[in-house]
Amino acid sequence: MTKKVWYTYDDIHKTVKQIATRIQEAGERYDAMIAIGGGGFIPARMLRCFLDIPIYAVTTAYYLSESSGETAETVRKIQWLDPLPEPLRGKNVLVVDEVDDSRTTLAFCLRELQSEDLGHIGVAVLHNKLKPKCDTLPAGISYYSGIEVEDWWINYPWDANDIDAHNRKAETAREEQAQQ
Ligand code: G4P
Ligand code: MG
Repeated sequence: MTKKVWYTYDDIHKTVKQIATRIQEAGERYDAMIAIGGGGFIPARMLRCFLDIPIYAVTTAYYLSESSGETAETVRKIQWLDPLPEPLRGKNVLVVDEVDDSRTTLAFCLRELQSEDLGHIGVAVLHNKLKPKCDTLPAGISYYSGIEVEDWWINYPWDANDIDAHNRKAETAREEQAQQ
């Protein structure tokens, strides 16, 4: 069974702050964020407290495609910056998502954005799962991950039906971890 981990909004906030600090310490300046929905929306909004730059958004989904008789999962754009908004032309953008898992969605989005008339592109994810990735990030991109995590299923607070139960699970898991 896949192991699970729970993060609270407070955990996420602290991770976001760490990412912002690292970006600032690296001396990188971004003009805007591009959040990859839905998981990137809340992290991008939290990051705005620290970076104070506008948020743009894209959304993707997986779909089954057939080529040469083989069915494969491919990423599809649900909503995109098409055409690229004028204020973003030549500007440095920070792409924000919650998790770097298989890297399929992230690499797809970054390749698409690299083909646009943008300045420097960076990417910030809350969590990077330490696992073999299905795709590679294009060259020349700055990469920030808040926490490197094991390949466990992450329960994010925005997916919780009962936020109190979610927070209790996070607390219990933390106590168990501390006892080990
Ligand atoms: P990646 O490029 O960022 O690695 O994403 P990948 O295509 O591998 O991920 C497929 C979907 O699975 C993504 O959702 C991603 O957020 C979600 N996912 C992967 N690992 C976890 C996890 O541990 N916990 C949770 N809650 N989600 C995970 P998506 O299709 O972009 O949907 P959305 O939920 O962001 O709208
Ligand atoms: Mg996502």
